This record gives sequence, structure tokens and C-alpha cells, in this order.
Amino acid sequence: MDRKEFLASLGIGAAFVAYSSCLEGCNVANPVSSAPTNVDFTLDLTAAANNALKTNGGYVYNNGIIVTRTTAGQYVAVYSVCPHAGATVQYDSRNNRFNCPAHGSNFGTDGSLINGPANQGLTKYNTSLNGTSLRVYS
Ligand code: FES
Repeated sequence: MDRKEFLASLGIGAAFVAYSSCLEGCNVANPVSSAPTNVDFTLDLTAAANNALKTNGGYVYNNGIIVTRTTAGQYVAVYSVCPHAGATVQYDSRNNRFNCPAHGSNFGTDGSLINGPANQGLTKYNTSLNGTSLRVYS
């Protein structure tokens, strides 16, 4: 019986396996590609695909970027790829910050690093609201 089978027999799922892998290898140096620099797209806030942005705390992904309507009602956009190991970050409305579900890194709404294991923040993009059009640009 290998390690994975042993853990499975104990009822410990893949999340623990991923976590224990992090304990063994969290010192990897940013294997993630860099954030795009020539960003410029517009979201139609009346489109069904963007319904989450009608509510504070909602978010959508577009072009590798997470676009959030914060709990304070501001539109914020950051690169969605965690600089630690490449997982996709989420918006944590309870704490008004971005969270990486893979190993627990947290980032402010300005993209700044709050805690690791990531060792740098997320690239932030500009947003501009014009009626029901939300422009995201670098
Ligand atoms: S991928 Fe490890 S904390 Fe995000």
C-alpha cells in the first residue's frame, strides 16, 4: 500500500494530500507565468455571464483575470493566477480579500500579499465603469 492508498483508507481526501505536498514543497520559486501586461477588455454588466457583478461580493473570471465587486461595491480586477504554484484565486467576501484555496495565501483587494506561502502579490488592473460597461485595463 502506497502513501496515497494509505491516506485514502483513513478517509483523508485529496485536500490533505495536496496540503501535505505543500508542506514538503512550499519553497518552490514562483513557477507561474507572469501576469499579462496588455490588458484591455470590457464586460457588459447586463450580460448573464456577468450577473455575479450585480451584487457586492460577487466575482467573475475573464482573460485570466478575476473581476470582483467588493463588499464595499468597488470593482477590482487582479490576475487570477496565484504566484505560489498557479492555483486560481477567489474573492473572499467575508474578509474582503483574495484567497488561494490551494495552500491558503491571501491578498488584499489592491493585490498586495497578506500572507504566504506565496511570496509576492497579484498584479492589479484598472477598472472604469461607464453605465453598464466595465472596462478592465492595464
Ligand atoms: S498555489 Fe499555493 S498558495 Fe496559491
